[in-house]
Amino acid sequence: MTEKRYKPITITPDFYQLGTHSFPAYLSMGDHGMIIEGGTGATSAIITEQIEELGIEPQRIKYLVLTHTHTDHIGAVPHLKRLWPHLKLVASAVAAKLLQREEMIKEFLQGDRSIAEIMISKGEIAKLPPELEDYAFDVDLVVKEGDGLDLGSGIVWTIYETPGHSPCHISLYEEKEKTLVIGDVTGFYVPEKDVFWPNYFQSLEAYCNSIRKLSTFSAQRGALSHNCVLEGGVGHHLQKAIRATESYHLELLERLGKGEDPNQIALEKAKWVNTLTDMVPLELMYSLTKVLIKRSQSEAEKENLFTIT
Ligand SMILES: [Fe+2]
Repeated sequence: MTEKRYKPITITPDFYQLGTHSFPAYLSMGDHGMIIEGGTGATSAIITEQIEELGIEPQRIKYLVLTHTHTDHIGAVPHLKRLWPHLKLVASAVAAKLLQREEMIKEFLQGDRSIAEIMISKGEIAKLPPELEDYAFDVDLVVKEGDGLDLGSGIVWTIYETPGHSPCHISLYEEKEKTLVIGDVTGFYVPEKDVFWPNYFQSLEAYCNSIRKLSTFSAQRGALSHNCVLEGGVGHHLQKAIRATESYHLELLERLGKGEDPNQIALEKAKWVNTLTDMVPLELMYSLTKVLIKRSQSEAEKENLFTIT
C-alpha cells in the first residue's frame, strides 16, 4: 500500500489547507502562524510534511487552535506538541475541561486508531501513527467570545462561541481576508453531493443559533472541518444548513409520530450517512443518529428554531 501524497493547498497568500480532504487542518500566517484544527494522529505526519513543503519555519507557528474536542479534531495535537513544544494549544473553557476528563485519553485512543485503520484500508496512509509515551491535551490559552488572536501583519482572528454540535465548539473570523472558520457548525457537508447530515449532538436550539450567529458576517470564504473550503456563497451555505436541519428534524418527528421504532430510524439514517462517508464506522454512526433522535424529541416544542434572514 503506498501512501498518497497530500499537497498543501494555498487558499490565499496567508491561508493554507493542510491534512487530507476528509480531515483538513488550516494554517494562517501573519508574522506568526496558527494551525486551526487539531487533526488526527494519522494526519499529523502529513501536516508536518506539508508545512515543511511550504518552507515555513515551524518556530514561527505560535498557536494551534481547536474548533472542538471530538476525537477526529484533536488527534494530531500530542504528536505536534512533541515535535514543536513551543506551540500554544488554544481552545474554549469548556474544551479545556472536557480534555481533562479521566476517561478522555482511553476514548480518544480508540477513536483515533479506528480512523487510522480506515485510512490504511483505503490506502490513504501506510501505517498507524507512532505510539507516544504519553498523550497530553493541556490547553495553554483559554479563549472566549470576542477574544482576538493577533498574528501580526493585520491578521487577527476573533473567537465566536458556537455550541450545538458540541458544547465546546468555537468558530473564528478573520476580517482582513474575510475568512470564516465554520468548523462543524453546519454539520457534515458533502460538497460533491451538496448534501448535509445535520449534527446537533448537543442541542438543536444551540445548533440553529450558532448557524444564525455565523450568518451575520460578510465572509468571503468558509472553512469547514471536513471536506472543503467554500469560496463565496457562505451565507447561502448557512441558509441551506438551516433548511437541511429543519427537514431532518421534521422527518424524525413525523416518523416517530407515526409510531416507527426509533432504533430502526436511527439504523436507516446511519446507513444513509454511510453512503456519504466511509470514514466513520457504522456502529459509531448508529450511536450518533440515536443521539440526534433524542435531541429532536426533547426539543420538539421549541419555536422559531429555523428562522434565518
Ligand atoms: Fe465534531
